[in-house]
Amino acid sequence: MKKTGTNIDAKSAAPRKAFIKTYGCQMNVYDSERIENMLSKEGYEITASPEEADLTVLNTCHIREKAAEKVYSELGRLRIIQAKQGETGQAMKIAVAGCVAQAEGEEMLRRASNVDVVVGPQAYQDLPELLKQDRKNAVRQDFAADDKFEALKKASQRNAPVQPAAFLTIQEGCDKFCTFCVVPYTRGAEYSRPVADLLDEAQNLVARGAKDITLLGQNVNAYHGATDAGGTETLSGLLHQLAEIGGIERLRYTTSHPKDMDEQLIAAHRDIPQVMPYLHLPVQSGSDRVLKAMNRRHGRSLYFDIVAKLRDARPDLALSSDIIVGFPGETDADFQDTLDLVETVEYAQCYSFKYSPRAGTPGAEREDQVPEEVKSERLAVLQHILNAQQLAFNQSKVGTTQPVLFERLGKKPGQFIGRTPYMQAVHIDVPYLSDPSAVIGRILDCHIQHAGPNSLKGALLQKDLPDVA
Ligand code: SAH
Ligand code: SF4
Ligand code: F3S
Repeated sequence: MKKTGTNIDAKSAAPRKAFIKTYGCQMNVYDSERIENMLSKEGYEITASPEEADLTVLNTCHIREKAAEKVYSELGRLRIIQAKQGETGQAMKIAVAGCVAQAEGEEMLRRASNVDVVVGPQAYQDLPELLKQDRKNAVRQDFAADDKFEALKKASQRNAPVQPAAFLTIQEGCDKFCTFCVVPYTRGAEYSRPVADLLDEAQNLVARGAKDITLLGQNVNAYHGATDAGGTETLSGLLHQLAEIGGIERLRYTTSHPKDMDEQLIAAHRDIPQVMPYLHLPVQSGSDRVLKAMNRRHGRSLYFDIVAKLRDARPDLALSSDIIVGFPGETDADFQDTLDLVETVEYAQCYSFKYSPRAGTPGAEREDQVPEEVKSERLAVLQHILNAQQLAFNQSKVGTTQPVLFERLGKKPGQFIGRTPYMQAVHIDVPYLSDPSAVIGRILDCHIQHAGPNSLKGALLQKDLPDVA
């Protein structure tokens, strides 16, 4: 057993330091920023090195076995740091947050003796209090999404600058219960935040420098938030309202379920100039048989219909997806259907995974699991095609001029990195520039000169060249 009785309130005047490490999806990134705000309010300084931390928060992901196991290897590394700290009398506490915390709860305390607090994704508001509890009382797995957002809103630092491309969680949780997926268990039932809170948060993000806002939700297009007038608003309605806020130049939303892609939302891609021509619309499989076994509630023809309508509304739309290979019972013929779907849709970008059985989900119970080597072979074949599609999409932009929102400095001196409307990373070199703010945070036209699999290279148009310092 490690140190006990380190009352964080009773420490010396030196500011306590907190290190936060984030795994998993964009929602975890959003949550970690809120946790950071909350800890700052509690008097912590945020540090990038666990060695000097008095508190480490691991914001974890449970989606596949590999993701969940990473947490335990990290806890092993932290144990070594704790031992070193012990030599100087420093004692770091460890809080495990996020989806592994929700899924494992007390089990986590048994498996890892250096964990002090276990807090699920909808109980972050309790973190400061849990840090003061004895270990045995420091597990919280309640689903209280409204409390969470209310508390996190209060903690948000409403003046600090934000990245030019910011996230805004509008919906959390999932009622779909795909048979491979842990999210409905780790994030709970669907919850939509009220419209007024979102407009307020978006306005605040713009005031702090955001130009591109990505609305987040595990099922973002199932959004149905309360309005002040006592009704509910859909995602398309919310997009229209957000587009009215001056200063939001780009709007995106992720992740959508094909079944919730309604006509109004499709029309929003045609009617709202700020809605970017890029959509992540996971299909998971191209086989009707497998889609049914996955409880996806859509077949391939519905997916094709939606894609056709979207491209009708916005001909240059770039599509991205998630695909799982080797779901239990998947045959060669099923896999061929997936390849066929991919060839037909032509993705600009796509994530692909080997099916990972997750305890407690129906897929894991099935006896017809696909052998690991078959999954690996299928994944390699699929990825070969997806990589070629991604490269082809990137190459299709060579010779064009794209408006690029510059977000950060590159690794090389004078290099800047931004994104096209289609989410492609663009690198430019402006070596003579002394003031990065002439580029970062701005949308500038770039002539695209070269395309690789993962990024583009371009140059600013003459008219946008910043003055030589
Ligand atoms: N709708 C969610 C999906 C989250 S999970 C969202 O908001 O992003 C992201 C992707 O992980 C899924 O689309 C799916 O392709 C993949 N995934 C989920 N469970 C999986 C499992 N058990 N094995 C392999 N991949 C999985
Ligand atoms: Fe998981 Fe399916 Fe819900 Fe997405 S829609 S979070 S894949 S259960
Ligand atoms: Fe992972 Fe939880 Fe997100 S399982 S993908 S962190 S919702």
